[in-house]
Amino acid sequence: MDATARPSVEPELFKKYVDFIYDHTGIRFEDNKNYFIASKVGRRCEALGLSSAQDYFNYITSGPQRHGELPHFVDAITIHETFFFRNEPQLNAFERDILTPLVNAKRLSGNKRIRIWSAACSTGDEVYTTILQVLKNNWTDINWEFVGTDISQQSIRDAQAGVYSKYAIRNIPADMMSKYFTQVDEQTSKISDEIKKFATFKPANLKEPSEIRRLGKFDVVICRNVLIYFDDKSKEQVLWNIYDTMDDDSLLIVGHSENLYAYKHIFKADNKLASAFAYHKAPAGTEKLHV
Ligand SMILES: C[S@@+](CC[C@H](N)C(=O)[O-])C[C@H]1O[C@@H](n2cnc3c(N)ncnc32)[C@H](O)[C@@H]1O
Repeated sequence: MDATARPSVEPELFKKYVDFIYDHTGIRFEDNKNYFIASKVGRRCEALGLSSAQDYFNYITSGPQRHGELPHFVDAITIHETFFFRNEPQLNAFERDILTPLVNAKRLSGNKRIRIWSAACSTGDEVYTTILQVLKNNWTDINWEFVGTDISQQSIRDAQAGVYSKYAIRNIPADMMSKYFTQVDEQTSKISDEIKKFATFKPANLKEPSEIRRLGKFDVVICRNVLIYFDDKSKEQVLWNIYDTMDDDSLLIVGHSENLYAYKHIFKADNKLASAFAYHKAPAGTEKLHV
């Protein structure tokens, strides 16, 4: 084989990989992603001393070792792009139009517990950003709980470690940087325990109802920049799973380029909160049967 050629997987085997990934993650890879899959499989083959994409497929689909290998494969084929204060206009609207009224309402109700879930948190940047927003406002009388989940176990370990590259923290205001981060080396900084203590990170697959239900109920669910990877069927499944973690007055926040207009039977846009991209559960009676 020409050593300079882009790696690729035989079409029939590529389809098997696509179906396998879809079954586990809900992510649907199109035919133009053959090179992407082939290069990830190639790296896992190298790490395991396997000699072909077919051998790796056998390794990951049969035999007791497959359970241990699956998380490595999932880490490899998921895209973890994220950074602190990603999309500041949306986050400003989130702070002003969602967090502030929520804090006020909780204070009035006497139940000062607020649970916020980042549903595909990658390395935790989104979770820690929300905590920084809360601390900036001095909302310390509230009993906050921030939960971050992701299908990628490596991302969850990275979130727990809380060490970030210059790139990831480039948007953090200087006063927050000096207060809550210590420099590890030229390239990286570590977030302080004072911030970390508010956050809990755990692996969870958005496609799996049992993994999501056990997280409990949330006041706010943040699900940004992950629905784009799912096809319509997976999106519907994932949205119903998120629906089950919300009460009638909870809010779902999606990314600024995403919308749920095709899922009006599950979520209804809150037009007053349009700049925060916020959704409520669809009113009772709008829903179709859970599928
Ligand atoms: C592009 S990152 C988005 C991170 C963050 N929400 C943000 O907007 O900056 C997408 C994340 O979704 C995760 N992901 C993909 N499929 C998932 C699934 N089925 N369940 C949970 N997380 C998933 C990936 O592992 C990845 O970390």
